[in-house]
Amino acid sequence: EKQKIQVAIDGPASAGKSTVAKLVAKNFGYIYCDTGAMYRSVTLKAIQNHLSLSDESTIVAMLKQTKISFTPGNPVQHVFVDDKEVTEDIRQPNITNSVSTIASLAGVRTELVNRQREIANQNSIVMDGRDIGTAVLPNAPVKIFLIASVSERAERRYKENIAKGIETPLAQLKKEIEVRDHKDSTRKVSPLTKAKDAIEVDTTSMTIEQVVNEITKIINQRIK
Ligand code: CDP
Ligand code: CDP
Repeated sequence: EKQKIQVAIDGPASAGKSTVAKLVAKNFGYIYCDTGAMYRSVTLKAIQNHLSLSDESTIVAMLKQTKISFTPGNPVQHVFVDDKEVTEDIRQPNITNSVSTIASLAGVRTELVNRQREIANQNSIVMDGRDIGTAVLPNAPVKIFLIASVSERAERRYKENIAKGIETPLAQLKKEIEVRDHKDSTRKVSPLTKAKDAIEVDTTSMTIEQVVNEITKIINQRIK
């Protein structure tokens, strides 16, 4: 049986993880798995069901009855919750600003990490998130930690929003990114940290193409 390759990409909000992970996966013919979309999907369903976002046992019980699936797509993959498409709904600002609360629940993480490992066991994969190199796939042969300055990441979010017809003040986006980074980095279970064996890539002044080339080089060095 052919060896399955795992590429783990972690880092803070808007460092470019999903954009770059998708392109790298395509170039190598690997599956791409956006674990953030899974946490976002749980958040969306909990809000739609008017659940308290800190009520762990109720949310875990809901999650166990919830199917989350992906289909490939361009420029973004399609995300489905219980077979209903939620691709755009999970990117709305209210979900973005609530997702870290859901992601801090240990029971939610256990369930989603199990599902993520199942996906990774079946395919060569590029998986992006916050805890892939540290918790989900600790033995991944390739681990990348993508960073960029807060100002640059806020600029990227700003442009993304403008493209969607939403104008949010840059200062507000900066604040939201800082709050989410802080929550993600300080939670008790699997906080966002760079794995010891991860290679850090600072994308602040890099184009998407440059980041893809850099990661491609790293993968080729590790898997030959
Ligand atoms: O794309 P963006 O950087 O805004 O975030 P995302 O990757 O969609 O992740 C949304 C949120 O889910 C993060 O801020 C984390 O709170 C949580 N998350 C996590 O805890 N662990 C992961 N492996 C992926 C996401
Ligand atoms: O997944 P994550 O939140 O880390 O970031 P993303 O959603 O992939 O990227 C955020 C935005 O930054 C996207 O609009 C990308 O096109 C842009 N980007 C960039 O301008 N330069 C890079 N080197 C990487 C991403």
